[in-house]
Amino acid sequence: MLTLNQLSDKVTEYFNAEQFTGNPQQLFDPIAYTLAQGGKRIRPLLLLAANDLFGGDIEQARYAAIGIETFHNFTLLHDDLMDKSPVRRGKPTVYVKWDQNTAILSGDAMNILAFQYFLKTPHRNLHEILQTFQQTSMEICQGQQYDMNFEKRDDVTIPEYMEMIRLKTAVLLGGALKIGALYAEAAPSDTDAIYNFGINIGLAFQLRDDLLDAYGTLETFGKQPGTDIKDNKKTILFLKALQKGSPAQRQQLNALFATTPDDPTQKIKQVLDIYAQLDIRKEVETSIAELHNNAMKNLDSIARPESDKQPLQQIANKLLNRLI
Ligand code: IPE
Ligand code: IPE
Ligand code: MG
Ligand code: MG
Ligand code: MG
Repeated sequence: MLTLNQLSDKVTEYFNAEQFTGNPQQLFDPIAYTLAQGGKRIRPLLLLAANDLFGGDIEQARYAAIGIETFHNFTLLHDDLMDKSPVRRGKPTVYVKWDQNTAILSGDAMNILAFQYFLKTPHRNLHEILQTFQQTSMEICQGQQYDMNFEKRDDVTIPEYMEMIRLKTAVLLGGALKIGALYAEAAPSDTDAIYNFGINIGLAFQLRDDLLDAYGTLETFGKQPGTDIKDNKKTILFLKALQKGSPAQRQQLNALFATTPDDPTQKIKQVLDIYAQLDIRKEVETSIAELHNNAMKNLDSIARPESDKQPLQQIANKLLNRLI
């Protein structure tokens, strides 16, 4: 069994050994730029951790780990274009540094590259691994479309929101874990349990992301705070505020979320004021804790020694309390 540090070192080692170069340069430069930034690289870390938990040979999962992170970064190139987000990981996003067409095409190439990585290592479960990966990919597209549909709706419910974030975010964490387990040839009941663990931490991860979008700083979080409010995103904060607010507060929030001012500073401030009046941060923290609890129950149901589950517990704790 590897420790969390050893698993993280593996992820770094695997990425350092890769070169994301090719021709034409205009296609590959944005890919190298994005993947060199790192980010938290939690999806490959989860994939390797699950593989190790179920006694796999971690080297067999090496290219799937690189593939899943390359895929994640592809989704970010397109997501930043869709969300008009100028900064990520403290650096200009690809569509800002280059242009929109570059973000589209380099993103497409990263999606293809991800599948190429998966195909590099033969494995008796490769068919199921690829099936899991392609199902996850389609679900992310579905989630991203719901996310955009919701910008224009004023009647989104919390269950609808939870389903949207399950699709756009949680399935990739669950998928990474399941794929790691499939490389280790884990029993189907364990593969399901680790997937569900990923869904619960993935849901909590997106709630944390919504919180950080409102309360994080550009310096630590690396993204422009207030982007979700600017974009009229129906985040958990907004939906909980609608649920908890007085009729007047609800009306004010709905009115604010029907506008798209050129300078969103005032709008962001007004929305954050309402969130503060309603103590929304605390509400969301409670939901994160509940999901974390559910995730721990999923982990409990896996018949492996408690000590072997430590890296995954540590990752879950770090992710859900993160500031970046
Ligand atoms: C950002 O993912 C997109 C979400 C699902 C919230 P991460 O927060 O994992 O981004 P990086 O890769 O660490 O930058
Ligand atoms: C991200 O949701 C989901 C995907 C990238 C698929 P967000 O739009 O909240 O992610 P950030 O905040 O831009 O990283
Ligand atoms: Mg975004
Ligand atoms: Mg988005
Ligand atoms: Mg976000």
